[in-house]
Amino acid sequence: MSERLNTTDFPWPLPDEGVRAALAAAYLDGSWGRYDGPHSAGLKEDLRELFACDQVRLCSSGTVAVELALRSCGVGPVDEVVLAGYDFPGNFRAIEAIGARPVLVDVDPASWCLDAHCLEQVTGKHVRAVVVSHLHGGLADMPRIMQLARQRGWQVVEDACQQPGATLGGRIVGNWGDIGVLSFGGSKLLTAGRGGALITGNRAIHQRIKIFAQRGNDAFPMSELQATVLRPQLAKLASRNRQRAKGATDFMNSTSPLSTWLRGVTHPAGSQPAYYKLAWSYLPAEQDPTCRTQLIMALDAAAVPIAAGFRGFSRRGRTGGRCRQVGPLTHSQRLSHSTLLLHHPILLASEATVRQAIKILTHTVQRLAGV
Ligand SMILES: Cc1ncc(COP(=O)(O)O)c(C=O)c1O
Repeated sequence: MSERLNTTDFPWPLPDEGVRAALAAAYLDGSWGRYDGPHSAGLKEDLRELFACDQVRLCSSGTVAVELALRSCGVGPVDEVVLAGYDFPGNFRAIEAIGARPVLVDVDPASWCLDAHCLEQVTGKHVRAVVVSHLHGGLADMPRIMQLARQRGWQVVEDACQQPGATLGGRIVGNWGDIGVLSFGGSKLLTAGRGGALITGNRAIHQRIKIFAQRGNDAFPMSELQATVLRPQLAKLASRNRQRAKGATDFMNSTSPLSTWLRGVTHPAGSQPAYYKLAWSYLPAEQDPTCRTQLIMALDAAAVPIAAGFRGFSRRGRTGGRCRQVGPLTHSQRLSHSTLLLHHPILLASEATVRQAIKILTHTVQRLAGV
């Protein structure tokens, strides 16, 4: 068995006859070149059904969707927004873009997501909203987070950009919060190269997005062409998510004997994550971050699609000014040094390719550990 993967075995985007046929039809009927048409309307209908939500707004990216979501929840200058100390960097920027101030709390090291127990410690009359992301195959504790938010009068923006179709407690993620956010960026599980969406059951929230985004024209639009390629992918999302979950389980089970070096993401019993990324903490790197660089370089040489996680915000929390911090950000800081992320296309590869990748990962971790 070769010690280098063949990247053509896990292409992205996937060759998809449904996408090809939809593009050909959009070319023939001219809908590809129109401002509005049947594909955006159809995609909104599909999303309404999948997310069991009345109101859907399509937009240009997940990044802008988070900002629109915060604005639609009434967040403005002088307000504060709670965010995990380890999250997508654009979410910190979205809060700042509104003139609001991030309030950082730690993550749960098992799920990589905002820790509901840390959220409980947050006080302050300026806190208006919470941004919660479901990251790397982990799922945030939405029942507890929503309960707290209701008690305190906070709005919740639920970032499902990494996990379209995931469920928690039998309910699709994105539908738990006051508003949910999706991304259709080029590397995402549903890809249009670019694009995003907002989903909510709250008409007032939806109306506020409309008022902000509608400027004689939609200021943050998704094109008909983007909607065209998303619909056939959405129809296959559930089956592809199942297949990716199987690949993720194979990776997690096969790397469990490496627990001295790797600690994998976990999710609550009965829940079903969607795997845009699959996370491990590389434990030697929690003490010495240079170890992770060495491991990633070795895996890269073998074409194993593993990269570092987010940089996190724990240093910003310490210096104050841009944000405030509630409680220690111990896990956020550790994970910013140690997170390894497997990129999803390999989870749809053949069993032989998955086996080969696991073997290379195992050998590389053992070789660097000197065993
Ligand atoms: C958790 C999370 N939120 C938001 C985004 C932003 O999405 P987009 O790339 O569509 O702007 C990303 C992108 O990776 C993400 O991972």
